[in-house]
Amino acid sequence: MPIKILVNGAFGRMGQMTVKTINAHPNFELVGQTGREYDLKRAIKDSGAQVVVDFTHPEAVFHSTSIIIETGAHPVIGTTGLTINQIQLFQEKCANLKLGGIIAPNFSLGAVLMMKHAQEIVKYMPHVEIIEMHHDTKADSPSGTALRSAEMLAQTAPANASTKPSHETVPGARGATHHHIPIHAVRLPGFLAHQQIIFGNTGETLTLRHDSIDRECFMPGVCLACEKVLTLNQLVVGLEEILQ
Ligand SMILES: NC(=O)c1ccc[n+]([C@@H]2O[C@H](COP(=O)([O-])OP(=O)(O)OC[C@H]3O[C@@H](n4cnc5c(N)ncnc54)[C@H](O)[C@@H]3O)[C@@H](O)[C@H]2O)c1
Repeated sequence: MPIKILVNGAFGRMGQMTVKTINAHPNFELVGQTGREYDLKRAIKDSGAQVVVDFTHPEAVFHSTSIIIETGAHPVIGTTGLTINQIQLFQEKCANLKLGGIIAPNFSLGAVLMMKHAQEIVKYMPHVEIIEMHHDTKADSPSGTALRSAEMLAQTAPANASTKPSHETVPGARGATHHHIPIHAVRLPGFLAHQQIIFGNTGETLTLRHDSIDRECFMPGVCLACEKVLTLNQLVVGLEEILQ
């Protein structure tokens, strides 16, 4: 039996790509497409969706994720902008319901590999900064990927890893910090989604760089998530949690 999937945010850039991918996938059945003015709860109930993929807006994602979990559908959340406290709340709810789901700020394999390898490198090169570059219509800054990268780096970075404070002649010149890791966000037409993680050491630097040049790159991760969430009994964070 194909897995019944509803896409929320179906008329946006990621939503349209997801709809196309699900329609072409032999194991999936697209049972619903919802957008801004839709009644998501009713759409999930009426369609019998088992999985709901969400690519909406940072201001909408807390509400839509609450509804998905409340209806008992498995959430596959690609929308960025959820806070750590909000994610913990959803994890508690899913644990109580034994409901499988995933929140992944980046569904591309290359970006996840960049984050995983960065965790190893930071053990030896603790001075690190992130530069992320996105299209100028991206709603949130910094990107969810940059925030997640900083969190993952902070898990293995030595306690003294933070860069020495310096005087900012112009406020913001040194970027924002998340878990003591500086993040610099660039927003320009011409970019899609790109990130560099730069490690500095005396006399040398090491740069990991990932470039998403087509939204297609997110689709294998989305498909994997739609299948895996049915086998989970908790809400996991990050595509790396379900990769073999
Ligand atoms: N996880 C990933 O791999 C990944 C990859 C790319 C983008 N994203 C994120 O996905 C989200 C969407 O990105 P996009 O480029 O498709 O944006 P977009 O603006 O093209 O599309 C968002 C869509 O959501 C709709 N929407 C807004 N509020 C809504 C609501 N309350 N209910 C239902 N629909 C609503 C909008 O009308 C729009 O059609 C962003 O948060 C972005 O950062 C994640």
